[in-house]
Amino acid sequence: MSEELNNEYWRLVEKGAKAAGRRYHVSIEYNGPLQSNLSEHMKLIDMAISSKVDGIITQGLSEEKFTPLINKAMKKGIPVITVDTDAAKSKRVSYVGTDNYRSGYLAGKALIAGTKGKAVVGIITGSFEASHQKLRVEGFKDAIKNKPGIKVVDIKASNITKVQAAEKANEILSEHPDVNAFYGTSALDGLGIAQVIKRQGHEKKIYIISFDTLPETLQLMKQGIIQATVVQKPYKIGYESVKLMHEFKKGRHIPSTIHTDTGILYQKDIAKGDVSP
Ligand code: BGC
Repeated sequence: MSEELNNEYWRLVEKGAKAAGRRYHVSIEYNGPLQSNLSEHMKLIDMAISSKVDGIITQGLSEEKFTPLINKAMKKGIPVITVDTDAAKSKRVSYVGTDNYRSGYLAGKALIAGTKGKAVVGIITGSFEASHQKLRVEGFKDAIKNKPGIKVVDIKASNITKVQAAEKANEILSEHPDVNAFYGTSALDGLGIAQVIKRQGHEKKIYIISFDTLPETLQLMKQGIIQATVVQKPYKIGYESVKLMHEFKKGRHIPSTIHTDTGILYQKDIAKGDVSP
């Protein structure tokens, strides 16, 4: 169950999940709201519970709102594995995905290095409600905590759309003309920010660190508009979660957390090409 059906990031999760489905003979139904929407997402999980699926793999978008649903599924004997975003206090059997706090921390360190410790930063985050987005901001803020030269002046939410990311980046720039760095915490945020920066001809003056390695992100990195991005492994997240579900159904013990690799890809490394999803 993805945050957004046609989001390229989630399509990679689906691809990995379906590959594991073929390998382990598990049939996969991929679903999610057309556009990111918490209550729609919850409704779809509830429907999956009612239709008595054999297992649910979903984001645990909001710890508070998703925990009762996850626990309801578990109580009915439907195992739940969270992916991408954990609801760690729920009874889910396992989490597969990025360590979101750490990924934000790495982004903060990369920004410090990329701006030589001096920057006025605007943040575009996917959502103020989703746990992974909150953790990515928290980790970032902790990383820059002892750097008086780095100041975060504003944070706005894009509702994980590129259009709103661009709108919000534009607002930040007009409200804070001294902003010279941006951090985008979900896959489409960096793309929206880059659009505005390009339109205003600020490419040389503004540092951007984004999330994920979608083809458009890599393109913008090659053009020198995005300087760095946090690498996640969506294909692997999909694959491993199905593999784990299969093992769990066979009665094997599975680990309660699997953090998939995360790291920073810099513009200068892009030619080396290690960006497989
Ligand atoms: C996040 C996903 C999110 C996507 C939005 C990714 O960075 O991990 O949870 O749905 O961005 O585009």
